[in-house]
Amino acid sequence: MRTLWAWLMVMLLLHQFHHHHHHESMACLEQEKMALLAFKASVPWTDYDDTSSGRLPSWVEDDDNDDCCSWERVQCNLTTGWIIQLYLCYIRSRAYDDDVHLPIWLLNASLFLPFQELQHLDLSENGFRDLADNEGLEPLGRLKRLEVLDLSLNHFNNSILPSLGSLKSLKNLSLSQNYLEGNFRAEGIFKCWMYLFWRTCKCWI
Ligand SMILES: *[C@@H]1O[C@H](CO)[C@@H](O)[C@H](O)[C@H]1NC(C)=O
Ligand SMILES: *[C@@H]1O[C@H](CO)[C@@H](O)[C@H](O)[C@H]1NC(C)=O
Ligand SMILES: *[C@@H]1O[C@H](CO)[C@@H](O)[C@H](O)[C@H]1NC(C)=O
Ligand SMILES: *[C@@H]1O[C@H](CO)[C@@H](O)[C@H](O)[C@H]1NC(C)=O
Repeated sequence: MRTLWAWLMVMLLLHQFHHHHHHESMACLEQEKMALLAFKASVPWTDYDDTSSGRLPSWVEDDDNDDCCSWERVQCNLTTGWIIQLYLCYIRSRAYDDDVHLPIWLLNASLFLPFQELQHLDLSENGFRDLADNEGLEPLGRLKRLEVLDLSLNHFNNSILPSLGSLKSLKNLSLSQNYLEGNFRAEGIFKCWMYLFWRTCKCWI
């Protein structure tokens, strides 16, 4: 009888523990972790990149570091485990210097397609020259919850303007300090309004 009683106590404790554990935060999703690693692998690092701030040192897959919600520059919704914010500014340090040694980096928006719940994407200060392919920014337009996109402090020129039209859910876009030229103040702001303002999107050029 005593053994049975002890056994019941153990079961009760286990149940309590499980119940408690169930309400703790969710770990990141496998497909999102894979997408973060794919992004990291796509960065054209050089010896100029500062290893202390750049190179995403915590983005490593191993058993002790399995939950990408705890990786630097990543914020998850802790209820669902989905990634909602990515702060990928200044990944390559010195990227904004006009340093001839830096390899050209083109923004491949398809890399962000797995982040279906993403709300805030900061890609500022990375020295992006252009979009990687003729998909343009359209893959970001398929992220239904994306509201803030920061592309400031890159090397984009006016050729980026047409693809802004696909960013349907945006509320805040920053293109400040790029190489938008010519009539860009008038033309750029006009196009931003055309595409975005009627959706009450704020546009920072
Ligand atoms: C996290 O997800 C839950 C469930 O979908 C939602 O109710 C909550 O508002 C989300 N929180 C944030 C910060 O997005
Ligand atoms: C962009 O990323 C996607 C998804 O990883 C990949 O299939 C595609 O080949 C990449 N495009 C370029 C031009 O690198
Ligand atoms: C914009 O940048 C791209 C890539 O660097 C270049 O091929 C193109 O000629 C530039 N266009 C203008 C109008 O400067
Ligand atoms: C929109 O972006 C600008 C520039 O990053 C920032 O100053 C502003 O606070 C943002 N507004 C909102 C509502 O996120």
